[in-house]
Amino acid sequence: MMSTPPLRRLALTLLLLALAACGGGGGSGDTGPLPEVDTRAVAQDDPGSTLPANWRQGPFAEIFVRAYQDSDGDGIGDLRGLISRLDYLKDLGVTGLWLMPVTASQDGDHGYAVTDYRRIERDYGSLADFDALVAAAHARGIGVVIDYVMNHSAAQHPAFVNSKAGTGNAFRDWYVWQAGHPSGWNVFGSDPWRNGFTGWYYAAFWDQMPDFNLKSATVVDWHHDNLRFWLNRGVDGFRFDAVGNLVENGPSAWESQPQNYTLMRGVKALVAGYERRFLVCESPANPLPFGDACGSAFAFGHQFDLIAAARGDATAVRAVADYFKTAPLTMSTMLSNHDSFAGQRAWDQFNGDQAQYRLAAATLLLMPGTPFIYYGEEIGMAGAATLSGDPKLRTPMSWTATSAGFTSGTPFRAVSANIASQNVAAQLTASNSLLAWYRAMTALRRANPSLNGGSYEAAVASGSLLHFQRAVAGERSLVLINYGRSNASATVDGLPASATLNNAFPPSGTDLATDAGGSVTVTVPAQSVRVLVLRS
Ligand code: GLC
Repeated sequence: MMSTPPLRRLALTLLLLALAACGGGGGSGDTGPLPEVDTRAVAQDDPGSTLPANWRQGPFAEIFVRAYQDSDGDGIGDLRGLISRLDYLKDLGVTGLWLMPVTASQDGDHGYAVTDYRRIERDYGSLADFDALVAAAHARGIGVVIDYVMNHSAAQHPAFVNSKAGTGNAFRDWYVWQAGHPSGWNVFGSDPWRNGFTGWYYAAFWDQMPDFNLKSATVVDWHHDNLRFWLNRGVDGFRFDAVGNLVENGPSAWESQPQNYTLMRGVKALVAGYERRFLVCESPANPLPFGDACGSAFAFGHQFDLIAAARGDATAVRAVADYFKTAPLTMSTMLSNHDSFAGQRAWDQFNGDQAQYRLAAATLLLMPGTPFIYYGEEIGMAGAATLSGDPKLRTPMSWTATSAGFTSGTPFRAVSANIASQNVAAQLTASNSLLAWYRAMTALRRANPSLNGGSYEAAVASGSLLHFQRAVAGERSLVLINYGRSNASATVDGLPASATLNNAFPPSGTDLATDAGGSVTVTVPAQSVRVLVLRS
């Protein structure tokens, strides 16, 4: 055996020690022992559901907890704050809440970079606060759905810290690694492969959000354990993030891959194993097939038609009329959400035109689908004047004319540009406010089962007039929405002869009757909504 000179032996020992310290791979820059990953298995233990069977039909409110209500003066919204606003949400008429990620995260903001799937974000409170929120929401007949991010974790997640340590690490296979830098990839306009120093890892959204390897059954099983962790605590379901991005098969096969649907069918089955839970998926590029695989998916694209129709664009009115002729009635609808790619806040898209805004809200809330109201939409919150991109849309809730309603401290972010005029305090007392309109529409939907969960029939777009019918056994609603600047009338036929059409909206309207041939002609004033209900 050749002897090693003492200096070289020392260098070798030091190198081996360094390699051991960062998990054997070398070069990652990490020192110290690797963090433990919580891989405890979680068995199904369904606490059941006290919610009414139809709670899943909505409407839902999408809540950014960080921006909703601060309870302790640190300028950051929290779970205790949200609990204090549940009565407001109940009065708004929502039956469900979607909370953007409440799990611990590394981003200190939106929460999509998850560092612990079984812990609450420190800024928001504790698991006990979360349990209290769920109980308080349930007591009001409101379900709580949380964001779940299966596509990626935070780079600081213990599993990735391990994975990055080297090729021999037990968690290496939990993420997507290549020895060399793969070429030819372009995801959302940039190269998704990032230098991890022990290899190249795939991270579609941000170098700090590495994608999980969802071809690994171990990883999928672990996510299922995490899901059961929350379902066992009484969570009513999930909004699944970025389901179009779950699996990558190549530079031109990284979106909506066949495995993604299989994965989501697995999640759907898991969730369906619990009583009265709800699953809605986010796939901006390809929503409809996920509507099937998940049970519901956001109707991306449709929101732009809803906004354009409300402005009177006849092509968009036709698109709105046609959407649910083919799309499943279980799709989830919205006017906008927390992502700027889905559009600016509705107020900004309408330049503050409240007549158009109200027509959009009516369309959202009277049509099929499960409607989602983005927090503050019901009071016409604008984006922040001083911000751009996503933060512009994610400002503190305008409870009062200044930030004082949101926090006793300094808000974490600039407030909405129109907080002085568009805020809850001002609108609660005004009978003709936008808030009053939203409440009237949610009440109308919930008071008439045909509007809440009925069929979609006889939809007609005629210029800027849209009318359609919705029916359940014993009840048929006629909805007419005139987006135009002048009166319009429609003759609806095929109805029972000489039947009474009860006026449901506006409150000042009168009952009508069909003629002997089962027809009725309804005149709808400019930019207004008419709802009539036929009961048998
Ligand atoms: C979804 C979320 C978005 C997030 C991204 C990555 O698009 O809506 O806010 O940044 O997924 O998690």
